[in-house]
Amino acid sequence: MLLLNLTVYGFRNLVEQTLSFGEGLQVFVGPNAQGKTNLLEAIYTLVVGRSFRPVEESVLVREGASGFRLSGKVERRAGEMKVVLVYNKEKRAKTVEVNSQPLKRIIDLWGEAKAVVFSPQDVQLIKGPPMVRRQFLNRFLGQASPTYRHNLLRFSLALKQRNAILKKLSRGESEESLLIWEEAFVNFGQAVVEERAKKIEILAEKANSAYEQIGAGDQRVIIKYRPSSQNLARDISLSRQKEILQGSSLFGPHLDELEIYLDGKEAKSFSSEGETRALSLAIKLAEWELVKEETGEEPLLILDDALSELDERRQVALLSLLSGYPQTFLSLVSKRFLPDPFSSTAEVFYVQAGEARKSA
Ligand SMILES: Nc1ncnc2c1ncn2[C@@H]1O[C@H](COP(=O)(O)OP(=O)(O)O)[C@@H](O)[C@H]1O
Ligand SMILES: [Mg+2]
Repeated sequence: MLLLNLTVYGFRNLVEQTLSFGEGLQVFVGPNAQGKTNLLEAIYTLVVGRSFRPVEESVLVREGASGFRLSGKVERRAGEMKVVLVYNKEKRAKTVEVNSQPLKRIIDLWGEAKAVVFSPQDVQLIKGPPMVRRQFLNRFLGQASPTYRHNLLRFSLALKQRNAILKKLSRGESEESLLIWEEAFVNFGQAVVEERAKKIEILAEKANSAYEQIGAGDQRVIIKYRPSSQNLARDISLSRQKEILQGSSLFGPHLDELEIYLDGKEAKSFSSEGETRALSLAIKLAEWELVKEETGEEPLLILDDALSELDERRQVALLSLLSGYPQTFLSLVSKRFLPDPFSSTAEVFYVQAGEARKSA
């Protein structure tokens, strides 16, 4: 997939502008706080429907603006498409159009366009709470598989309904419809768990090779899937009283966890800062491979500040690897991080005060 152009309006500190992109490395260069990450965020938000940073939508709106508008043309195997994403701050409403047709849900965009991002915050994928890993799984598998999207949506609805009923019961109110939602809860939940189990196994293999490819080291990367339940139907029927007492669903994919190991040691507690960054990058590159294999589309690859903490040898290793991708967006604080031959083949944009200018 290629993003051919991007028009931004009212997004963060970015001034209204249209940028055209080509194949290969697209690099945003500039000192701190100029808008490099904001540009990458705008690209990701246009393609995936939401930011990669854990923020409320309203934070994305430029101070003083009533909303933002992102649009762009995407070239895909499935044909070219124009995406327009609009957020209205007052209504707190986000809408997305593909080729002038409004999509029913933002998540439907995941079936149309794909992007994989790596940012410094991804150390949270290793060190953060389980919620971060579940969000990663959902976004990644949601882009990789339409059945996953379908099952996840159905499960989430059943979970919401079931929890509301359990809360009522915990307050002693009468409620007859617990069993009605249970079937959807179990069936869609079980389907989500099964697909996670299958795909995580493939992801783990790919992350292990990617870790070596980026020159991080020869430690073995192991990713283990830990579902909260192997048999949802059995577990919820055995613990129904406890669930009613607590007023919430105690088993299901909303409580699953991933365990990540480097050479047999759990990375969450043991890995160094450098190892943690390399691990999260390897997992993102593995995600890219898997989404490509599953969908036939090569996702946009977006890397924020990926080079700054690497030594020179690893920088060159990563840049060489990135040159093999159809289109990669990369932010750098200085062009000195872009040695030859990369600087002559990359398209470089200088970013200053929210404005990107292509270098001649
Ligand atoms: N909603 C917003 N409105 C206006 N400016 C914003 C908004 N959100 C962030 N900024 C500004 O954007 C700048 C940071 O841009 P960023 O893309 O993170 O910089 P960098 O070039 O270092 O990656 C900061 O100066 C910040 O104050
Ligand atoms: Mg930045």
